[in-house]
Amino acid sequence: MTIDTKELPSIDAELQESLPAHYYLSDDVFSREKEAMFFREWFCAGREEQLPKPGDYLVVNVVGESILVVRDLDGRLRAHYNVCRHRGCQLALPATTQGIEEGMAGWSGHFNRAIRCPYHSWVYGFDGSLRGAPFLRESEGFRKEDLSLYSVGIDTWGGFFFLNLTPETVGTLHDQLKKAMTVFARFPLRDLRTARRITYEVDANWKLVMENYNECYHCAGVHPELCTIVPVFKQKGGSDLDFGAGIRQREGTSTYTFSGTSSRAPFPGLTSDEVSLHWGNISYPNMMTSVSSDHVAAFTLWSRSPGHTTVTCDFLFHPLEMARSDFDPSDVVDF
Ligand code: FES
Repeated sequence: MTIDTKELPSIDAELQESLPAHYYLSDDVFSREKEAMFFREWFCAGREEQLPKPGDYLVVNVVGESILVVRDLDGRLRAHYNVCRHRGCQLALPATTQGIEEGMAGWSGHFNRAIRCPYHSWVYGFDGSLRGAPFLRESEGFRKEDLSLYSVGIDTWGGFFFLNLTPETVGTLHDQLKKAMTVFARFPLRDLRTARRITYEVDANWKLVMENYNECYHCAGVHPELCTIVPVFKQKGGSDLDFGAGIRQREGTSTYTFSGTSSRAPFPGLTSDEVSLHWGNISYPNMMTSVSSDHVAAFTLWSRSPGHTTVTCDFLFHPLEMARSDFDPSDVVDF
């Protein structure tokens, strides 16, 4: 579809300048972003449902740092650097020896009651405490209590889990997510389950991905199918949109599919007016959330380098809908 720009009204929108080019390309800037942002703020790293049972673990790569997330015997999530305190071997190794490759957000597995280092078999509890080291006796120079795994902050909201690599120096997850918690308060995010996950590689800096999500100036030309469902996206150059208050869809539509409709029930508690709205939110540094009346598209950004970002998109639905024999998320995923 071609947009005839002569048909579009001109408005007095304010032009926002981009950052200088090196902010998107430089290794030095990327290193500073790691220190100042990715390692200091709460980083969305997955869904709690990915670790359903005690002993289940997941290894994720947070901007170059390998982090081991494990569900302990009490059902609580714990997170540690995936590094043994003895000689630094990775505690959980991937099935391939290449580490996390492009296209992988991480890998998962299961520990039986404890974490055993594959190199010299030091054994750690799920809380990170060193429980045993073969053939070594405790002495003045070797005290188990001094050799727990280096811990990483972990907290949850809405069924997502977040990691913080310097938890002692930062605010709470609640402080960071205040806006998202307000916008999505009426939705049962924690109860939802992932029906489909897609992962894609973007040869672009993470800030460009977020900037693109943060505006709808491109929507008329790039997303004509979306503008059919949400006409305001192509009006006024996509300005004056309040995603926190909900964006109104075309009359008779209620979700993001090609028809704008679905056979799924809306989330419990939505009013008949709210069913025709769509909510969106960015939670820096790496989470973008798009909420329709019957599903959520949750985007997580994994910055790999200044010029490369992996994006995972989880499509979340209500378990009652997923239990239906005719449940099929394809209409949403295809759209
Ligand atoms: S490196 Fe882990 S036990 Fe030696």
